[in-house]
Amino acid sequence: MTFRQAKSRLRTLVAMQLKKRRWLIPAVAILGFAATSVAVLIPAEKGLTLLAAIWLFATAYLWGFSAHAFRSPRWPPTGHFHRREYAAVWDTLANSAETGAVVASGKQYEEDVRESAAPTIRNLDEFVGVGAQDDVLEIGCGVGRIGRELAPHCRFWTGSDISKNMLTYATERLAHLNNVRLQQLHGGGLGEFTDGSFDVVYCTNMLAHLDEIDRWRYVQEAFRVLRSEGRLFLDSIDIESDEGWAAFVGGPSPDLESERPPFMPRASTVAELENYAKRAGFGQIQSHRRPPLVIMTARK
Ligand SMILES: C[S@@+](CC[C@H](N)C(=O)[O-])C[C@H]1O[C@@H](n2cnc3c(N)ncnc32)[C@H](O)[C@@H]1O
Repeated sequence: MTFRQAKSRLRTLVAMQLKKRRWLIPAVAILGFAATSVAVLIPAEKGLTLLAAIWLFATAYLWGFSAHAFRSPRWPPTGHFHRREYAAVWDTLANSAETGAVVASGKQYEEDVRESAAPTIRNLDEFVGVGAQDDVLEIGCGVGRIGRELAPHCRFWTGSDISKNMLTYATERLAHLNNVRLQQLHGGGLGEFTDGSFDVVYCTNMLAHLDEIDRWRYVQEAFRVLRSEGRLFLDSIDIESDEGWAAFVGGPSPDLESERPPFMPRASTVAELENYAKRAGFGQIQSHRRPPLVIMTARK
């Protein structure tokens, strides 16, 4: 485990414990207040009074800090958008760098965002392998969570997304890398890229937010922009896994359809993803189950 991973895990652990015992910091701060008051009123030795005051200030600061840190992000309303107004939906969700990172990765702190990329990087390595000779394209790259970790290991990494806001935050996060390009998508395909320009095209944590017809279009387009022998990697939520099923039945009830948020993920099946790849012309199609995900890989 690296120092960064250890730090990120420690912070998550402490935050989880403190979240379970939200009374703890206020209680310690109130005790600090009581101790300071007693020390001033008695009056106690100067050293003790100073200690009590430091205790009070430190815990009051922690109280304020934790109240801020534990605040759940309030998502701007998106119910008035149709699901397929992707740019409007995701620009609205990503209305700041902070919410952009949270909607892309579920993580708020930069170190945690970086740490959260590890499973996808492992899956890419295991199933398609990304090396120093590869020109790589991510469709729906968000804030460049994966690109930041992958770019140092490939020839050139291109991140594409329909959301201008996401790309703005990605540009800031990846500014230190010189083999990176970010491209906004406009037309439900990959018209911004020429035929046969990539060795690897991948899509992670993204397809489930699209309608099926748009998933298919991206697979068809991925075939076009891949070079001969190029590799495709897609992951999506697997409705056949217990976790994918729980997310499906635990979602809003059908009679609340109108309240279903337009970004709500919809799961896939192995058959669905393999069908897109087969019909687009891919060969060597394989599926891999990594609950809650299904990963489909193929070769042009
Ligand atoms: C949950 S985020 C995941 C981002 C990134 N793949 C990651 O794992 O960190 C989904 C991303 O897909 C993008 N997106 C949504 N609809 C899209 C579409 N039709 N075409 C391209 N990108 C889209 C969103 O803007 C958002 O950045």
